[in-house]
Amino acid sequence: MTHKIGMKGLLLAALVSASLPTHAQSIQPMLTIRTAESGPVISRHIFGQFAEHLGRGIYGGVWVGHGSKIPNVRGIRTDVVKALRDLKVPNVRWPGGCFAEAYHWRDGIGPREGRPARLNRQWGGVIEDNSFGTHEFMDFIDQIGSEAYIIVNVGTGTPQEAVDWLEYMTTDKPTTLGKERVANGRTAPYRLKFVGLGNESWGCGGSMQPEAYVDRMAVFNKFLKNLHPNQYDPPYQNTGPDRMERIAVGPNGAETAYVEAVMKAWHDRKPYSWQLDGLSVHQYFPGRGFGQEPGAEFDEASYAAFLKQVYEMNDVIDKHSAIMDRYDPEKRIALVIDEWGSWLEPLPGSHKSFLEQNNSLRDGISAALVLNIFARHADRVRMANIAQMINVLQTMIRTDNERILLTPTYHVFRMYVPFQDADFIPINLHADEYKQGDITLPRLDVIAARARDGKLWAALVNLDARRPANTTISIPGIVAKSASGEVLTAARVDAVNSFERPQNVSPKPVHIEASQGNLVLRLPPKSLTVVMVDE
Ligand code: AHR
Repeated sequence: MTHKIGMKGLLLAALVSASLPTHAQSIQPMLTIRTAESGPVISRHIFGQFAEHLGRGIYGGVWVGHGSKIPNVRGIRTDVVKALRDLKVPNVRWPGGCFAEAYHWRDGIGPREGRPARLNRQWGGVIEDNSFGTHEFMDFIDQIGSEAYIIVNVGTGTPQEAVDWLEYMTTDKPTTLGKERVANGRTAPYRLKFVGLGNESWGCGGSMQPEAYVDRMAVFNKFLKNLHPNQYDPPYQNTGPDRMERIAVGPNGAETAYVEAVMKAWHDRKPYSWQLDGLSVHQYFPGRGFGQEPGAEFDEASYAAFLKQVYEMNDVIDKHSAIMDRYDPEKRIALVIDEWGSWLEPLPGSHKSFLEQNNSLRDGISAALVLNIFARHADRVRMANIAQMINVLQTMIRTDNERILLTPTYHVFRMYVPFQDADFIPINLHADEYKQGDITLPRLDVIAARARDGKLWAALVNLDARRPANTTISIPGIVAKSASGEVLTAARVDAVNSFERPQNVSPKPVHIEASQGNLVLRLPPKSLTVVMVDE
């Protein structure tokens, strides 16, 4: 199996085994890690997060204010910061989402008591008091050790407003905007690594036809400048490694019109007109319908149907990559899946517009499958942001006043930290299928990579809800001594972490010694195992 292979490919790979038994029998899976070859770098930015002014995503989740009895540093929750630091979050997308397209940055600067109260029309019509604005977000980014990915308002904002925001944040010169930032408490300019040129401009960002968006995006793009001394864009020649990267709005799911329009415009643009680094795609997994799929108390059939839907991510990436390859065979433009995740039934008693949901073992397994898909497309998929970070949708962390809860998805992101900026390593995998009713899925889904410190890692998902998989791992040219890491599983596919049972789904250590140079790893049913191989 080559590294770039989807669900169909995985199933075919399973079938090429020389002496396949009938479906009724199990074959012992065989994994070969081809360490003599190496694929592209798995960008750490595929492990990005998304924090929107939506429900309790910011307020209560990140921001509690200086006077809160919940421990905080300058109003930002200490417990949440500590948990996020362990994820080595590479970038955070903010302030939305749909919220970004109605957000005016001047509302969120200056003394907090003087900031305007607005209606958050996108999410529940609640009052947005703007107590969390640019300075608070950048403080949060510093506290968790991440990079800012800011979406500018292309819908209800103007190019001048966006230009001013970037000058306010990034100039080191005593301009009026620079001095205003200093007066508001920040002397040094802020780093700004990523800027998003709008959000869902085909929908909540303005219902624009692709061509209308491209024209509008080009104007914003042309005038936007990062003025930070280390990131300064010399006109039209911004090629430095620390340059700010620009991401245009792309499609919803598998729709292609925005991909064609943006890529064609980029390809045909006049020399020195505008630059682009990424094209956004949003891909959610709603199960049987947005807000209708139970997040807990579901059966194995729902589990399998949901995982089948998760594999659509693979087809979406392949479809858009094929278009991008026509305009950009050198892969200069990244495919940026900057909203992805499950979108399930709201938690009982929660505000329907706050998008709070359960997070089960199924979410953890889904997250691992998606991360594996991204890794297999690492040449084109170089950034992604799960929706969302705290309290919203497929969240990492849930909060309840002073309590916090780490979700199965959080544990998956923590287990994958060694894969950040690791070199992808191709594998061969011989395994049979996981069948549930009329659904057929690969039984195993595996990636391998060499981490920045030279260590060899593998992430192995056993999708099968009933059968463990005793998997033989061979690494030609290397005598493996042992493998150790963690395994995430639970008694049921719908097991969730709740405030009453916060450790219900949590990783356990795993260690195996090689026997005569062979590693045989027992992968429990419905599990993720991440191990480092001791060579
Ligand atoms: O993540 C929730 C919402 O989903 C975002 O605001 C929007 O961009 C998408 O439709």
